[in-house]
Amino acid sequence: MSRKQTTAPDIQILDNDIWAERVPHPEFAVLRARAPVAWFDEPDGNSGFWAITRLDNLVEVHRDHRTFSSQVGGTELEELEKDPEAREARRTMLETDPPEHTRIRKLVSRNFTRGAIEKWESTARALIAENMDEALLDHRVDFVETVARKFPIQMISKLLGVPDQDAEQLFHWADAVVYHNDPDFSELLYDKEDTEPYRLLPFRSPSSLKVFEYAQKLANERAKRPEADVVSILAASEELTPSEFQTFFLLLVIAGNETTRHSLSHGALALAKFPDQLDRLREEPDLMGAATEEILRWASPQIHFRRTAVCDTELAGVPISAGDKVVMWYISANYDERAFADPFTLDLSRNPNPHVTFGGGGPHICLGAWMARLEVRVFLEEVVRRIRRIQLDGEPERIRSNFINGLKHLPLTLEPL
Ligand code: HEM
Repeated sequence: MSRKQTTAPDIQILDNDIWAERVPHPEFAVLRARAPVAWFDEPDGNSGFWAITRLDNLVEVHRDHRTFSSQVGGTELEELEKDPEAREARRTMLETDPPEHTRIRKLVSRNFTRGAIEKWESTARALIAENMDEALLDHRVDFVETVARKFPIQMISKLLGVPDQDAEQLFHWADAVVYHNDPDFSELLYDKEDTEPYRLLPFRSPSSLKVFEYAQKLANERAKRPEADVVSILAASEELTPSEFQTFFLLLVIAGNETTRHSLSHGALALAKFPDQLDRLREEPDLMGAATEEILRWASPQIHFRRTAVCDTELAGVPISAGDKVVMWYISANYDERAFADPFTLDLSRNPNPHVTFGGGGPHICLGAWMARLEVRVFLEEVVRRIRRIQLDGEPERIRSNFINGLKHLPLTLEPL
């Protein structure tokens, strides 16, 4: 039994089987209205957590890294504070507090600024155009396979320096790591099987080892013959041990493709559901910037991240004790009716749009935000140029995950212009 009383006893937001079916939006709406800082008990000896579901509270937690640590217990629900050896073995910049965090992030941050990313625009446009033309050859497509999965992988591979011929295998392993609760991706199910032998590996996934091995091989090559890519920078850095380099590489591989993938697939699905918005974007191309932000809000690919309170504090009048887990539900905050008028209607002209898709500010704000924005924007621009109508052609299939809001299959019919 937990030391606190569950605030929302009938509400289920953790169950991976629910997420495989749908986003529990009605449940989040109840929480935002009645218990915006709600205590949830957890099974299997875990200590439970505070669920933060309103946008303003989420931003408060994000910005106050001194009170809400990413390092003490990590950013996932798994309680790494109980296993310091695993916590240290798996720690990346994501699970590091300032000032050390600042030092690590600086190793690559100049490659991800708005200016640096803008230089990739013509590459991005050529790739998305090629993928879309291929999709249009056969008007009925699984949009995830033909476009949404391919394009972000191609982009992050180029930035990192992963050769084209290696990408499919590498990202197949990366999918297995992050979708460790879905049997279509992972051989070992984190929420059902004994993953204790893999506790030192990210997401307790044995596939992490395959990515590490690959990363080290690539780094050894780049150390001998550096190129203008991120792996060459990391390989030349004296600040990272081999193991720190390998976890850094895995972070970039996962963060750099999985979430953007689902922005594109949820974006295409949204345009199928709101055809008037696609027409409007074609007629008013000046809306492209606002449309990009709205698709990012709508998609909310990252479902949650976690912090740990390092001292007694309070949030929205609720006392929080030192050591408590605090979980920020981005997907709820992005549909918070206090922050967005009519949040369940796609409005490509929404402005302002204070979405928290990339986090709520503070030191961990998404490193790849400009890259994701570029990919979503060129995608929308090329859709508008080529496609009159997008229609749903079967049931979308969701990934079994309470961590990433993803689609594994999205059958669509694309009607060309
Ligand atoms: C729509 C796509 C994306 C979404 C929804 C997303 C979401 C997020 C969120 C919510 C965080 C904050 C984590 C925290 O505060 O604990 C984050 C951090 C991060 N993201 Fe993204 N991301 C996206 C695209 C990318 C891309 C393309 C990259 C490319 C490498 C990337 C790399 C990272 C990294 C390295 C961090 C850790 C930053 C730090 O700890 O300082 N992300 N992302």
